[in-house]
Amino acid sequence: MNKILRILTISAFALSGSVPLMAIAGAASFLVAIPTVAVAQDEPRNISRGREIFRDKAKCVWCHGWDGRGSQSDMGFGPSLRESFLDYEGAVEVIKCGRIGREMPAHDQRAYDDGRCYGITKADLTPEETPTPGLANLRQSEIESVAAFLVEWVFQKELTLDYCVRFYSETAVICEEFK
Ligand code: HEC
Repeated sequence: MNKILRILTISAFALSGSVPLMAIAGAASFLVAIPTVAVAQDEPRNISRGREIFRDKAKCVWCHGWDGRGSQSDMGFGPSLRESFLDYEGAVEVIKCGRIGREMPAHDQRAYDDGRCYGITKADLTPEETPTPGLANLRQSEIESVAAFLVEWVFQKELTLDYCVRFYSETAVICEEFK
């Protein structure tokens, strides 16, 4: 019998009143806490950083949804990224440069200052064509983290419980439907 089971048995049979209940609750929460730790640590840091930027800093979720399936908000409409056939390089480019003449914003503040995006500058574009600046100006390493996250979890990928739990938490009500 392993140590935890032995503690549970002793608590349940040898003691009475509220103390064993607390001991059992304590041991049980220890048992369920193990997978949570594993989930948080079993992926590269740049992937989890990419998820955080997608969710919080750059608010990609406003147009693409927390689930990446596309969304409509006051900010605009974004298509499902789960159907995207882009690769890592393609994702880096579109996050950095946005899309000319479309609603996808550019997350590099200087995207159209010096030709770093598609070899063109603001001077080559009408104001309507120029991608708006993203909600956050992202550094190259941040853009790469978001692209890595999308390749790993979103492009051509199923929406899973694992995705939901990592996006929200183990106990999030929104993840119930994936169980
Ligand atoms: C204002 C709404 C809006 C925001 C905010 C936004 N997007 Fe987009 N995104 C769009 C739209 C609209 C398109 C489609 C552009 C087109 O028609 O080519 C798009 C396209 C894309 C594509 C290309 C998909 C493909 O296969 O062509 C990727 C990747 C993408 N967005 C990722 C992101 C990421 C990552 C963020 C946050 C850093 C973000 N988007 C923020 C609206 C938005």
